[in-house]
Amino acid sequence: MNSPATSDDLPKQMMALRAHARGGPEQLRYEEAPAPAAPGDSEVCLQVRAAAITFDELTWPETWEADGVDRTPIIPSHEVSGVVTALGAEVQGLSVSEEVFGLVPFNRNGAAAEYVLVPAANLVRKPDGVSHVVAAAAVLPALTASEALVHSRLTNDQRLLVRGATGAVGSFVTQFAARMGIKVTATVRSASAVDRAKRYGADEVLVGDDVTRLDPASCDAAIDAAGAGTPDWAYRGVRPGGRLITLQEPPDADLAAAAGVDAMFFIVDPHPEELQRLADQLASGDIEVPIAQTYPLAEGGEAYAARGRTQSPGKIILTVP
Ligand SMILES: NC(=O)c1ccc[n+]([C@@H]2O[C@H](COP(=O)([O-])OP(=O)(O)OC[C@H]3O[C@@H](n4cnc5c(N)ncnc54)[C@H](OP(=O)(O)O)[C@@H]3O)[C@@H](O)[C@H]2O)c1
Repeated sequence: MNSPATSDDLPKQMMALRAHARGGPEQLRYEEAPAPAAPGDSEVCLQVRAAAITFDELTWPETWEADGVDRTPIIPSHEVSGVVTALGAEVQGLSVSEEVFGLVPFNRNGAAAEYVLVPAANLVRKPDGVSHVVAAAAVLPALTASEALVHSRLTNDQRLLVRGATGAVGSFVTQFAARMGIKVTATVRSASAVDRAKRYGADEVLVGDDVTRLDPASCDAAIDAAGAGTPDWAYRGVRPGGRLITLQEPPDADLAAAAGVDAMFFIVDPHPEELQRLADQLASGDIEVPIAQTYPLAEGGEAYAARGRTQSPGKIILTVP
């Protein structure tokens, strides 16, 4: 059993990006905030080195409330890589000063801060050759992609439709599917993303929602990684009995029934074995982790406001010196 950290060991204050009222990036302030208390029995305190942004997070109810109770002021950014500073009494397999990465549950304070508390089960050791920025960028999209592929029930030689194949989640879905021998029909928003989708492993790439080239029922499953509003054609592109997986909101039951498609939505749940598999994949250097831009934590508000304005695709990362 670890000797628990005492309050004397821990900083009392830290710098953090916080929102005091519901809203978008305009609510975020870089300011002094109370540092986390000593970790609970199964928690770990991290000194944050990198935290990734999922923009939609500011629209999710769990960002703002827990069990129906308002949580403001909140700290966003739940994809983290950092250094262990304190361990709960029952945490095993990790030690102080170790570099780890993982996911902070969405209904508690996130990692846009100097320190964050994370359940030990949501963390894994960061491989030495992998930077904090890459680890933070990969964790949520890669775990989401792996879970979506499990739900797709596809095996090799079947065909998957990936909408938004060069986004953060879509790029991992496409890369993982191709490595599993699954054939990928990708859609991307603009022609400039076609080559990237092919590099990730798609053998057919369609641009935008103009998908007249997509044969009805030609795919065994579809994963919509483009965000809200899955279009009708995505339901019709899957063969009857195949699966459609949406990631932003639950699918339309009427469209699914009309197409005879088994449609579902899920929220990613980090499992230790999946985290370890991701750490091994990152260590192998075998997967491409798209990173659009990094911002220092102090410029976090600007980073959140940069949605749709970055030059290159991929995650936006906050770095903490
Ligand atoms: N359920 C879960 O557990 C979970 C976990 C993580 C994320 N998500 C959700 O998954 C979705 C994707 O997240 P993300 O982080 O990957 O977002 P992202 O990086 O913004 O990726 C979205 C991708 O979709 C593309 N796109 C947008 N409209 C399109 C269209 N009409 N046709 C083809 N492509 C289109 C975008 O193109 P541009 O690059 O040109 O904009 C971008 O490449 C979000 O809704 C997010 O909230 C859910």
